[in-house]
Amino acid sequence: MTRKKKIISVAGARPNFMKLAPIEREFRKHKSLFTHLIVHTGQHYDYLLSKVFFKDLDLPEPDIYLGSGSGAHAQQTAKIMVEFEKVVLKEQPDLVIVFGDINSTIACALVCSKTHLRGTGGIIPVAHVESGLRSFDRRMPEEINRLVTDALSDYLFITEKTGVTNLLKEGVERKKLFLTGDTMIDSLAHFRNKISRSGILSKLGMRPGSYMLSTIHRPANVDNKENFSKIIRIFTKISAMVAEYDPDFRIVLPIHPRTFKMAEEFGFLKKFRNIRNLELIDPAGYIDFIKLLSESKFVITDSGGIQEEATFLKIPCLTLRDSFERPETLEMGSNTLCRLNEGLILRKIREIFEGKYKKGIIPRLMDGKASKRIVNILKSRLK
Ligand code: UD1
Repeated sequence: MTRKKKIISVAGARPNFMKLAPIEREFRKHKSLFTHLIVHTGQHYDYLLSKVFFKDLDLPEPDIYLGSGSGAHAQQTAKIMVEFEKVVLKEQPDLVIVFGDINSTIACALVCSKTHLRGTGGIIPVAHVESGLRSFDRRMPEEINRLVTDALSDYLFITEKTGVTNLLKEGVERKKLFLTGDTMIDSLAHFRNKISRSGILSKLGMRPGSYMLSTIHRPANVDNKENFSKIIRIFTKISAMVAEYDPDFRIVLPIHPRTFKMAEEFGFLKKFRNIRNLELIDPAGYIDFIKLLSESKFVITDSGGIQEEATFLKIPCLTLRDSFERPETLEMGSNTLCRLNEGLILRKIREIFEGKYKKGIIPRLMDGKASKRIVNILKSRLK
């Protein structure tokens, strides 16, 4: 009889949790084959950025919590590495799974690639979920995290076709590549009923289709005073323009701690609050956020994941970034790359109100089955 394999999944920040949850559910179905441990690095530690997601996504409590917390990049990454090294030395896993492109992802992949296991002398294999995405913009910390994590990984689980091309160009061996799709969409498909029951709209006193949802937190947008100021100007213009179509139309902005901190530091909070019909709310949990997204008229964001979720839900999405790493959402989906181009943003909003905005189609691999494919591959390979 073959020995049960021990797998550690690492999650650290908000965008990791919905990618981990469906993988955890799949492993639960194969308890005789796998022991699955969840390590939470503690990169995000606020209730609203972390714990509520475990609750909403029916994730069990993490088996191990590293408590790394916030800090400058080197500090945060190093802290996670020091703590995670102790975990792998103790647990001796057969595989470590990392998700997405955050500092926890690169930190734990690096630890595995340098930790030699007792007895075998081999390093610990790493699987990267959401591999192959590239913005080709190395000023983004996430791009560095993706490049390094992919270079160190043994199983590269890719969300969309261009990922395969990107990785082959970087010299990754074809046998390590698996085009499996997007586990984040698995969560959305799985929780559809629970999402439909969320009471967030009535709590905020809103009707479906009568508001725009927005999230802004990229360092390039909020840590830079000039860009942050441009965004406030754009929101002010949007607020005036949408009133032509619907005087009660609202802008809902769940505010990320980084954005709040920078708005305070730049003295922008008052300006934000003065924008007509704009509502600053606390960061929303998973179920409430997806409910808000799915009932919105459109979304304006600089997040990566929301571009995919909006594509799946066919909600028009205007992305306030210079670069992109999810081309399918632009070519097939409901997403438009707008940068901080005020004219383009206002034009697209007019199209949305006048029913002229593109409809978008759902890419084939957004079928809710990515996690199943991933765990099936691991079942056949980890013998
Ligand atoms: C991180 C990810 C980013 C992801 C985002 C989602 C990296 C490099 N970036 O960015 O890819 O889109 O998460 O949120 O890993 N803070 C709190 N409470 C918390 C966590 C953070 O108040 O629970 C504050 C801290 O003041 C911190 C700031 O938010 O300085 C930013 O947190 P950090 O983990 O550095 O990065 P994010 O901007 O959240």
